[in-house]
Amino acid sequence: MFLPVQETALPKDLVGAIQALKQELNAVILAHYYQDSQVQDVADYVGDSLGLSRQASQTNAEVILFAGVHFMAETAKILNPDKLVLLPDLAAGCSLADSCPPDAFAAFKAQYPDHLVISYINCSAAIKAMSDIICTSSNAVAIVQQIPPEQPIIFAPDQNLGRYVMKQTGREMVLWPGSCIVHETFSYQELVKLKVRYPNAQIIAHPECEAPVLEMADYIASTTGLLKYVQRSDAREFIVVTEPGIIHQMQKAAPDKVFIPAPATNGCACNQCPYMRLNTLEKVYLALRDRQPEITVPEDIRQKALVPLERMLAMSAGIP
Ligand code: 13P
Ligand code: SF4
Repeated sequence: MFLPVQETALPKDLVGAIQALKQELNAVILAHYYQDSQVQDVADYVGDSLGLSRQASQTNAEVILFAGVHFMAETAKILNPDKLVLLPDLAAGCSLADSCPPDAFAAFKAQYPDHLVISYINCSAAIKAMSDIICTSSNAVAIVQQIPPEQPIIFAPDQNLGRYVMKQTGREMVLWPGSCIVHETFSYQELVKLKVRYPNAQIIAHPECEAPVLEMADYIASTTGLLKYVQRSDAREFIVVTEPGIIHQMQKAAPDKVFIPAPATNGCACNQCPYMRLNTLEKVYLALRDRQPEITVPEDIRQKALVPLERMLAMSAGIP
């Protein structure tokens, strides 16, 4: 039997080989909660977009392997122009980032010259470069609350998060009509059925979900916020309405509780992010071994994108 060259070259102890390469390269592995459990378990830090940005801004490592999607690795590169930033699979994109093409966004923004642009971190470096402040799902409400009430705002690219922030803050904002294919797959009808089967379960949801789903939720937060909530809540069962990769950390943090992944509308596996799941343990090993695929950002865009990112980090100082 013939195996592809890459597979024959893989060591038997992949985890051990990854640890050895990490030491050799002075590398750090940063992973998002939506990664496969095996990938989360080799990471030095697992977190949400805000936590990962903070780690990327503080690390002393020379190499950052980003186990996440392209915009996250790009953010790490914007913050660390002199470090080597690796993404295990360059095709790990994001439907939400893709829903906001730079040319169309520039034309949209030109219609509102007096508006401040707050962009969710799930966007390309080019969109960040056109933004005044970046936010994540952890700090979006707190950041909008820091903007003087008379200042009009464009919020991009996630319209669901934007609507949620409008509801929480009472602020009108102009929304770019983008969304995430994973979070829009959860349906109100499926949740109702699940709640009938698990009447004592609390529904916990990510704000990228559509409004009818969020209305059903007992608690809404970023992935880190949801993880903290299941630890402190008195409830024993939770219906988790976000990418089910987060359940790995929930089970570790609260092993006696029950976590039920919310299903996709048609029973497919589309509640898993197809981009995040492109990264595998094998690709993490190969990326460290070969020091590629490398993330690069043109310097003019990087410098412009750095400004709103640094504003976000400064404006989130009080957020745990
Ligand atoms: P957070 O990491 O802010 O919870 O957002 C989830 C997400 O969609 C990342 O792509
Ligand atoms: Fe993008 Fe949605 Fe995947 Fe997050 S879950 S990376 S927003 S496609």
